[in-house]
Amino acid sequence: MKILVTGGAGFIGSHVVRRFVNTYPQYTIHNLDKLTYAGNLANLKDVEDAPNYKFIKGDINDKEFLLSLFREEQYDGVIHLAAESHVDRSISGPDAFIQTNVVGTCNLLGAALDIWKNSMTGKRFYHVSTDEVFGSLGAEGKFSETTKYDPRSPYSASKASSDHMVRAYSHTYGMPVVISNCSNNYGSHHFPEKLIPLIINNIKHKKPLPVYGKGENIRDWLWVEDHARAIDVIFHQGVSGETYCVGGNNEWKNIDVVKLICKLMDEKLGRNAGESEQLITYVTDRPGHDARYAIDATKLKTELGWEPTQPFDLLLSKTIDWYLQNEKWLNEVTSGDYMKYYENQYNR
Ligand code: NAD
Ligand code: TYD
Repeated sequence: MKILVTGGAGFIGSHVVRRFVNTYPQYTIHNLDKLTYAGNLANLKDVEDAPNYKFIKGDINDKEFLLSLFREEQYDGVIHLAAESHVDRSISGPDAFIQTNVVGTCNLLGAALDIWKNSMTGKRFYHVSTDEVFGSLGAEGKFSETTKYDPRSPYSASKASSDHMVRAYSHTYGMPVVISNCSNNYGSHHFPEKLIPLIINNIKHKKPLPVYGKGENIRDWLWVEDHARAIDVIFHQGVSGETYCVGGNNEWKNIDVVKLICKLMDEKLGRNAGESEQLITYVTDRPGHDARYAIDATKLKTELGWEPTQPFDLLLSKTIDWYLQNEKWLNEVTSGDYMKYYENQYNR
């Protein structure tokens, strides 16, 4: 099987590439990535020389390039993760989200259809999406595969649009697609614009810990290696045309996640108990901030046997260790443009 992974130099994509390259030496894995600010080949150092792996620098917005790449390589499968992924950036600049997440996804679908139109047998287009397409929950209930779409940020609206286009290719052209909608991921190689790695980096440098609003928004956190395992299971065993919700069954208020990271890091860094919590700073809330996300992943468990690894504090501790041990990685991604982004986002 020859598989194209898009966005494989990003956070989740790098875990997916690593898993597929190592688990399936008989497959050929190509990683197509534009290397935006979020893409980093250092995330894949350990597999870059593997005989079944190749990196291709390219943009999913370049339709002609995709058509010729697919004609040349004749891929059997696509695992599509390339996207603009940060809600705050989608609020300050939605255009790139429409371009890459919507138009880029349509370009990929078009290139796959071009080479598969005569025979769809054995082919698979896997679109990796988010639970944010379902909107925001109140205190009760969870999102499932039958929840109505209700996206509320430019990011989630762009992902919802791409989900609809993928389903349209399934219904209209009979393309064998699968979609998964996953909750918030955490783990190694996570770009520190997102909550957990940003808080870890700021505690390390004794910088203020920005908590939006009252810190009461709730997210369901899933370990990224569990997500990569779910993608593996769904890619191989998922039923074409179906959607699978992926979640950690692990809901936390933001302020409680931040306090847990503070506690774990005080212990690891030999600081006094309570020292890092002093850095917590409540800042202006995100516009349109979704209150709560939670996933009911029963379908994935009952139909495909997938379950998340627990417990959160142990995996979070392991995650923090990775950032402390990979100082060079963290320093490199938090220099240059990151500093400009940080200034704009937090010191306005
Ligand atoms: P990320 O921002 O870390 O990585 C995105 C990758 O896509 C980067 O390597 C970037 O260079 C690449 N990319 C961006 N635009 C491109 C383009 N035009 N052409 C080619 N490559 C391009 O994102 P992530 O957190 O790893 O998320 C990956 C996917 O999973 C996204 O589709 C996201 O919507 C989805 N998702 C993420 C989460 C999460 O918690 N991070 C949860 C559910 C779903
Ligand atoms: P984030 O990691 O950006 O993921 P998402 O918005 O996709 O859920 O944010 C997780 C939660 O943390 C979200 O409720 C917003 C909040 N948050 C903060 O309180 N402070 C921050 O600096 C960031 C980046 C996020």
